[in-house]
Amino acid sequence: MKVMQCCNCGHIEFDEAPGSCLICNSVIDAFEEKSDAIKKPADPAKLTDGDKKHIPQIVVVKECGLIPDGTCTDVHVRVGEIEHVMQADHYIRYIDYYVNRSFVARTWLSPEACHPAAGLHLKVSAGSSIIALENCNVHGNWMSETTV
Ligand SMILES: [Fe+2]
Repeated sequence: MKVMQCCNCGHIEFDEAPGSCLICNSVIDAFEEKSDAIKKPADPAKLTDGDKKHIPQIVVVKECGLIPDGTCTDVHVRVGEIEHVMQADHYIRYIDYYVNRSFVARTWLSPEACHPAAGLHLKVSAGSSIIALENCNVHGNWMSETTV
């Protein structure tokens, strides 16, 4: 999976850059392949506390009832297994969501008012891939992927 990053705002796309950045509207030339734009645990079998504070936890809830026709798939994201702090100088800035590796939504989080968590109600078919990518203002981008 290729990681493409907008050099103006840091927004990440997978495999292919869009015609323009969906966050800051920069044109396609602003995207560069950047394999290190998303942080990874040094040893996935032995996560550090720092890893556990940043890797998004994705919880999928089928048929929440908010959308009555029953096609709603809830994706809840919490950062992380050890809850990340939300302080003025260190917090989760946003959580981005991707369906089948295409960007679909961003939730901005305020350190004063928000927990390090968010949720979406998606129209997706079974077998779709969901990526949650969070941005910590100190420790950068971290992601998780699951299949619904
Ligand atoms: Fe952090």
